[in-house]
Amino acid sequence: MASDAFFLFAVSMVLSALCGTLVSGARSFSIDYKNNCFLKDGKPFHYISGSIHYSRIPQYYWKDRLMKMYMTGLNAIQVYVPWNFHETVQGVHDFTGDRDLEHFLNLANQTGLLVILRPGPYICAEWEMGGLPAWLLQKPNIILRSADTDYLDAVSNWFAILLPKLKPWLYINGGNIITVQVENEYGSYFACDYNYMRHLRTLFRLFLGEDVVLFTTDGNTDKEMTCGTLDGLYATVDFGTDTNITVAFNRQRRFEPQGPLVNSEFYTGWLDHWGDQHAIVSAQKVSRVLEEMLTMGASVNMYMFEGGTNFGYWNGADHDTRFRSVVTSYDYDAPLTEAGDPTEKLYAVRDVIKQFRDIPSGPMPPATPKFAYGFVKLQRVGNISSLLDTISPFGPVQSKYPLTFEEMKQYYGYMLYRTTLPQDLSEPTPLISPLNGVHDRAYVSVNGDFQGMLQRDTSLVMSVTGRRGDTLDILVENMGRVNFGSKINDYKGLVSNLILGKDILTDWKIYPLDIDGAISRGWPHSASQKAVTSSQREPSVGPTIYMGVLEPNGLAWDTFLKLNEWTKGQVWINGVNLGRYWPAWGPQQTLYVPGPLLSTSLPNNITVLELERAPEHLRVLFMDRPQLNVTAGKS
Ligand SMILES: *[C@@H]1O[C@H](CO)[C@@H](O)[C@H](O)[C@H]1NC(C)=O
Ligand SMILES: *[C@@H]1O[C@H](CO)[C@@H](O)[C@H](O)[C@H]1NC(C)=O
Ligand SMILES: *[C@@H]1O[C@H](CO)[C@@H](O)[C@H](O)[C@H]1NC(C)=O
Ligand SMILES: *[C@@H]1O[C@H](CO)[C@@H](O)[C@H](O)[C@H]1NC(C)=O
Ligand SMILES: *[C@@H]1O[C@H](CO)[C@@H](O)[C@H](O)[C@H]1NC(C)=O
Repeated sequence: MASDAFFLFAVSMVLSALCGTLVSGARSFSIDYKNNCFLKDGKPFHYISGSIHYSRIPQYYWKDRLMKMYMTGLNAIQVYVPWNFHETVQGVHDFTGDRDLEHFLNLANQTGLLVILRPGPYICAEWEMGGLPAWLLQKPNIILRSADTDYLDAVSNWFAILLPKLKPWLYINGGNIITVQVENEYGSYFACDYNYMRHLRTLFRLFLGEDVVLFTTDGNTDKEMTCGTLDGLYATVDFGTDTNITVAFNRQRRFEPQGPLVNSEFYTGWLDHWGDQHAIVSAQKVSRVLEEMLTMGASVNMYMFEGGTNFGYWNGADHDTRFRSVVTSYDYDAPLTEAGDPTEKLYAVRDVIKQFRDIPSGPMPPATPKFAYGFVKLQRVGNISSLLDTISPFGPVQSKYPLTFEEMKQYYGYMLYRTTLPQDLSEPTPLISPLNGVHDRAYVSVNGDFQGMLQRDTSLVMSVTGRRGDTLDILVENMGRVNFGSKINDYKGLVSNLILGKDILTDWKIYPLDIDGAISRGWPHSASQKAVTSSQREPSVGPTIYMGVLEPNGLAWDTFLKLNEWTKGQVWINGVNLGRYWPAWGPQQTLYVPGPLLSTSLPNNITVLELERAPEHLRVLFMDRPQLNVTAGKS
């Protein structure tokens, strides 16, 4: 009948108006501005996503973590690409092993997870320099994250490598990447440079095409939204459990009057800094606010869902009132722990998701098994000053005034600055960092006698004694570059002169240190043991290397390494840099050791660089659980 036909016609008009028309067969992903939703293959689509960073998880555990996210009921993951992880040396690109981004995308696709990709170039992420390579700092006064031509050239070169690799992975091209974020919280950066954002938009369009959904994410203020958004990039917001979600989404609406509501970073927990209390966000709060957002029809990404670990030197730092370095663990109090284990928070989140979409049937994969291997004795190898032949094979660079890490082209870790005392200092004499130029911590000894430390922002003077001509050794630690705010040009090393008494110290020998290189070649375990035992009696203060062996017991299970009563340093197992430890400050007390790092049949080689003071009993402990929440107070 005519009226029925008209009715059906009207219904179909309404439906198509509601969420677009069905496109048979073709893969498509877009935004329906009329009806406030995403459209996937012509059907209305919302995502419930979780952040996971492949750079913080060893490759052999990627599939396990992704499967647990899928079984929670997520239909997408959100992923950062850290530029400095792939291009540590300018012009040399690494996409192998733990850096095999395409393998990660493939595993996610096989698991049934779509991908929200965040390729930066700046990513924040509490990652070294917010993902920017430190070699950018070779140009003095470069204005990062702006239309500075040297910066833009470097970005263009990187994107010409990265983005063509990603293009086949776009959903519209048969892959799983549904949306791509441009920059990251750009509105919270001082530069507010629209030419920069326009340049990025041009690059993304050039390499990825006109059809992919590009978006921005910003903090929840008008200023941030004004500087961070750009025509043609869909504007989204980020906020945690303490924000009024009506107010937050109203702000997104002022910049995107139509289109899906999106919280791109809904904080399930928070990061830790050394010396601070461990951050906790309750499972009840997370699940309640998640439910409210999903009820409003929003698409939500949980940041983090699986945090992982800042292995090696990859942690970032903040600099608000003072420099504060991010701890090695990036557990984040997230639904999956640092070691990838489901928590009460994960099950609370899953219970919420169940109300909104069908979740996969079948059991959640269990926690990976953990093992307490117990105590391992260590022995002293030698202090840093006596090991320079091994750990600084190319020897020092001579310079009247100190050079930075960036000038030396050693971007991470530790460097040794050596000079001689210009005069007798029989009375304790102040060694001063007048311009606060120790970035970030200096360990000072005179002729083998450890005399103390200088520390950025908090400890700019110490006392030194000695005689004219004595060797003054200053080991400087880069504790991770600032990843947020206006101070991301974070040069490391001695970035200004030191003054001793009234003299500016000059005529330095600067030793770049490649401790990781020496360890990856088998040192110190492969070296003769005689030298080691002969130096046992030296005092255990000042920067010193120790070694030990965890005998194999047939198991290669996850474990947690506790350096109880050790002070501060860095630790390696079987050549892999597990990261920094600092139990004297906390809150992190144990380091995550992924099981597959361990050998079931060969001796497992442990190397420790202790910077300050080793305990009386030279031993470390492997436990079956982490301890991330003991802030011991400042030493
Ligand atoms: C992603 O997975 C789907 C479904 O299993 C498959 O059809 C498609 O070919 C995969 N895409 C890529 C790029 O591997
Ligand atoms: C959130 O803000 C709205 C608008 O200002 C207000 O009506 C509402 O009561 C607030 N909600 C909560 C939970 O505070
Ligand atoms: C370093 O070790 C050497 C050789 O064992 C010793 O002579 C020197 O005093 C030590 N220096 C420090 C800084 O401990
Ligand atoms: C530990 O070092 C020893 C001595 O160099 C070597 O023989 C052994 O293979 C190393 N163990 C592992 C697991 O690589
Ligand atoms: C630290 O965490 C453990 C394990 O989650 C918990 O049992 C303990 O109560 C916490 N301690 C503090 C001081 O918060």
